[in-house]
Amino acid sequence: MSSANTPFVTRDLAHVWHPCTQMKDHEQLPPIPVRRGRGAWLEDYAGRRYLDAVSSWWVNLFGHANPRINAAVRAQLEQLEQVILAGFTHEPVIALSEELAALAPAGLTRCFYADNGSSAVEVAVKMSFHYWRNVGRPDKRRFITLTNSYHGETLGALAVGNVELYKEIYRPLLMDVISVPSPDCYGRAAGATWAEHSRAQFAHMEAALGRHAHEAAAVIVEPLVQCAGGMRMYDPVYLSLLRAACDRHAVHLIADEIAVGFGRTGTLFACEQAAVRPDFLCLSKGLTGGYLPLSTVMTTEPIYAAFYDEYVKLNAFLHSHSFTGNPLACAAARASLAIFREDRTLERNRALAAHLGRRARELEDHPHVAEVRQCGMIVAIEMVRDQASRAPYPWQERRGLTVYRHALERGVLLRPVGNVVYFMPPYVITPEEIDLMVDVAREGIGLATCA
Ligand SMILES: Cc1ncc(COP(=O)(O)O)c(C=O)c1O
Repeated sequence: MSSANTPFVTRDLAHVWHPCTQMKDHEQLPPIPVRRGRGAWLEDYAGRRYLDAVSSWWVNLFGHANPRINAAVRAQLEQLEQVILAGFTHEPVIALSEELAALAPAGLTRCFYADNGSSAVEVAVKMSFHYWRNVGRPDKRRFITLTNSYHGETLGALAVGNVELYKEIYRPLLMDVISVPSPDCYGRAAGATWAEHSRAQFAHMEAALGRHAHEAAAVIVEPLVQCAGGMRMYDPVYLSLLRAACDRHAVHLIADEIAVGFGRTGTLFACEQAAVRPDFLCLSKGLTGGYLPLSTVMTTEPIYAAFYDEYVKLNAFLHSHSFTGNPLACAAARASLAIFREDRTLERNRALAAHLGRRARELEDHPHVAEVRQCGMIVAIEMVRDQASRAPYPWQERRGLTVYRHALERGVLLRPVGNVVYFMPPYVITPEEIDLMVDVAREGIGLATCA
């Protein structure tokens, strides 16, 4: 650790308890104090730079300190930093809601705001449950989820997720959900296409809906990519089948696009690839270009109408967060959407994604790589002990940590999920930076798998 970083590390470790971290690990690998960010790069106090290959936990879209988003936030700051959103409103939240309603799958016209992804999932879960109660179906109160799914850390969001590492300890605190095998294509039979596998896996969902529709409020999924579950991917056909089945069984569909929304999968929203409209669309992370905490749950007029009544009937959705719809965050979100429009980001990303996929697929021949998979701007590399049998490395060996450490030494921030090394870069990354990111990942995988 360079001396210019040391005072910050010392002060940090005296008081800061870091998220998703075994703090004892910092005895070996201290946290890196970041002085500033520019574009796809972070810089520490010693002047060392790190290419942000994970978009700072999947939030950043257009680079750090983006001049256009900076200007929008600065301008908003001069007008209004925060105001209560109950009884009051403001232009940034009105305009953002109009823009989102125009961009989201047709029919999602109502935006309910919160300030982080987990809270958006809580909102969607509560709203779905409450909707059924308001329309006289209080028996519909259970949720159907996919194995290997992740929806956040608050108790409701944790309950509807399925990543054991995060969930197991808290199980006594969590509501009981119905888990259905994921359409994840990593486990497909040799020779089967993604579409064939995802379609076949749908039989489990159909069966669960058949058994539980009378008591189920909603099915919740991460469309196309189960990110925290190891960037596991599936075919859009699953979403089409799911939409049709939810309609048939009168069960809501909650699309958690908190990680995959805003272009990560190649389209603005992943649901577009299946041409489906969920009943609830959860958005956060890239919503503000990764600038400020904000989330929204978008829903339809019929669902909104079920809450619209005389106050004394207690049908209103009496849910709130202090910073709901914060004006600065809304201004950042509007600036981010303007960049999508003005720079034709989705179109430009196609070339970047093609380059990223081409370079990453060079790793397919590596003896400890079972699969290189891609969905738009997300690419994942599955490290295994044995390529032929796909036997995984035991998680206790923390092979991904070796990749992480090596990448930091080489000036790249990669943060594998278990044995899965992945790239989810900001869209301002250049082909040369993609080359660096992939080269460093290859070296790291070599080191992590050599013994
Ligand atoms: C799909 C998905 N849903 C929900 C969340 C939770 O969001 P937050 O960390 O903002 O609470 C995440 C976070 O990674 C996520 O990937």
